Amino acid sequence: MAGVEFLDPNLAEVVDSGLVRVEELLRREVSGQYDFVTETALHLMEAGGKRFRPLFTLLAGQIGPRADSPDVVIAAAVVELIHLATLYHDDVMDSATMRRGAPSANARWDNSVAILTGDYLFAHASRLVADLGPDAVRIIADTFAELVTGQMRETRGPRAGEDRVQHYLTVVAEKTGSLIATAARYGAMFAGCPPEQVAALRRFGEIIGTSFQVSDDVIDIASPPEDSGKTPGTDLREGVATLPMLYAAQQSGPGAERLRALLAAPITDDGLVTEALELLRASDGLERSRDMLRKQATQARDELSALPDCSARDALASLTVFVVDRTG
Ligand code: IPE
Ligand code: IPE
Ligand code: MG
Ligand code: MG
Repeated sequence: MAGVEFLDPNLAEVVDSGLVRVEELLRREVSGQYDFVTETALHLMEAGGKRFRPLFTLLAGQIGPRADSPDVVIAAAVVELIHLATLYHDDVMDSATMRRGAPSANARWDNSVAILTGDYLFAHASRLVADLGPDAVRIIADTFAELVTGQMRETRGPRAGEDRVQHYLTVVAEKTGSLIATAARYGAMFAGCPPEQVAALRRFGEIIGTSFQVSDDVIDIASPPEDSGKTPGTDLREGVATLPMLYAAQQSGPGAERLRALLAAPITDDGLVTEALELLRASDGLERSRDMLRKQATQARDELSALPDCSARDALASLTVFVVDRTG
C-alpha cells in the first residue's frame, strides 16, 4: 500500500479492507445514467493510482476510538474523488498525455471531455460529502478553494521581485498539501480523535503533502515513465519551474547558464527537453531538493509526537521515509 510500512499485520488487514470498501463506494458513486460519462470517469479510476489520500484517511482514522466508523470510508472516498477530478483538469492545464500509465482523458478523448469529467467527479464528491454534515462540507470547500488557488498561483508565476523558491513552496502547499492535510484531518475527525490530535494530523498531512509534491517534481526529472506512469519533463514542457529547477538555476558555471536560458520559457522541442533533463540530472538541484525533503520529514515526525504510541502512528511515520526514498 502506497509507501506505508506495516509492522502490525492486523493493522494492514484492517486498512486493506477499508480500501476495498472505498473502491466499492467510488465505483458505485460515479456509475451514472449516461454510459459515456461513467466510462470517462472510470477511465482513470480504473487505470490505477496509488490511492495515497484515502489510505491516509483510513490510517489517520486508526488513531481514533471509532476507527471502524462508515463515515471514515465515505471521507476517504470524497478525498479521492476530489483528487481524481483535479487530475482530469490538471492534465488539460499541463497538456499531459499520460496519467496512471494510461492515456490522459484529454489525450484519449479531448479537453472538453476531460473538463466535464472532472466536473462530474466534483459533483459526485459534493453529493457524497453531504452525508458527512456541514462541517465536512465547509472543510472540503475551503480545501478545494486553496487547491485551486495553488494551481492559479502556479499558472501566474511569481511576481516581479518575489522569491521564487518561496513562491514554489506556497504553490505546492496549496495545490497538494491542502488536500492531503484534509485527508488526514477527515480520518481523525470521523474516528473521534480529540481536537489536538485532529490538528496534529492535519499539520502532519500538510507537510507530507508538500513533500509528496516536491518528490513528484524530483521524479518528473529523475525517473523513467515506467516508474511514474507519467511522461518525464512534463514540467519543462509546461514551463513550470519546480524546486530542482530553481536550485539548479542558482548554480554558477556554463551548464547553469545554459539551463537558465532553457528554463526561461516552455520547451517544446524533444531534443531540448532531453538536454535540459541531462543538465538538471547533473546539477545539484535534485540533491538539494532531497535535502529539503529530509528537513520536511523531520518536521512531519515532530507532529506525530502529539499522538498516542500505536501501530497506526508507526505506519504514519513510515510515510516520512517514503516521500524521501521514492525519489530514488
Ligand atoms: C499526482 O498525485 C498529483 C500530485 C499531487 C503529485 P498522485 O501521485 O497521488 O497520483 P495517483 O493518484 O497515484 O495517480
Ligand atoms: C498536481 O500538480 C496538483 C494537482 C493536480 C492539484 P502537477 O501538475 O505537478 O502533478 P502531476 O505531475 O501532473 O501529477
Ligand atoms: Mg500535471
Ligand atoms: Mg499541474
